[in-house]
Amino acid sequence: MLILRPETATDAPAIRALTDAAFKDAPHSGGTEAAIVDALRNAGALTVSLVAVQEGVIVGHVAFSPVTIDGRSGGWFGLGPVSVESIRQRRGIGGALIREGLRRLVAMGAEGCVVLGEPAYYSRFGFVADSRLRYPGVPPEYFQRLAFTGTGPAGTDPEGEVAYHPGFGAGA
Ligand SMILES: CC(C)(COP(=O)(O)OP(=O)(O)OC[C@H]1O[C@@H](n2cnc3c(N)ncnc32)[C@H](O)[C@@H]1OP(=O)(O)O)[C@@H](O)C(=O)NCCC(=O)NCCS
Repeated sequence: MLILRPETATDAPAIRALTDAAFKDAPHSGGTEAAIVDALRNAGALTVSLVAVQEGVIVGHVAFSPVTIDGRSGGWFGLGPVSVESIRQRRGIGGALIREGLRRLVAMGAEGCVVLGEPAYYSRFGFVADSRLRYPGVPPEYFQRLAFTGTGPAGTDPEGEVAYHPGFGAGA
């Protein structure tokens, strides 16, 4: 049985170990993902941090933190890092964590979420590339957004350059 729940005060070491192990052989890994999760937690910026637990063991984790758009904060969040123990990948755990995290953001009144990663993976959750939301330094198709509030009247959709929380500079 898979349990998804918010992280608790004693989960940090297990999340750190899981994140390090999951990203060890991942393409595009900076090797800093575990430090990023710690830095976000220490800064109070882990808006949503969920663990997946199987037989009492943490086998997956996903983090969501606030982003800014052209320096303005509020309403939009970034997905990641997300990790699943290698031997348990491709069983839906990552997808379950992401869907539950997005559900919680919606319940909190968030306006949307962005993600930097494989478009083929994240598009299944509804993420799409949007030329109005820019993230410098990566091919545009690798940066996607999911608007929770729907695309409003012309001019009301967010537009600008997205920046992740400074915690993403940790461990570099
Ligand atoms: C990405 C990750 C969290 C997905 O977790 P998961 O539990 O394996 O995902 P799910 O079981 O929900 O989904 C598996 C599907 O996603 C696909 N998938 C997984 N990672 C993918 C990727 N990087 N690019 C494209 N597709 C990917 C698989 O091929 C599989 O597709 P299928 O169902 O058609 O076979 C996990 O693979 C992982 O921890 N990877 C290492 C760390 C990482 O790269 N994190 C993402 C960057 S922030």
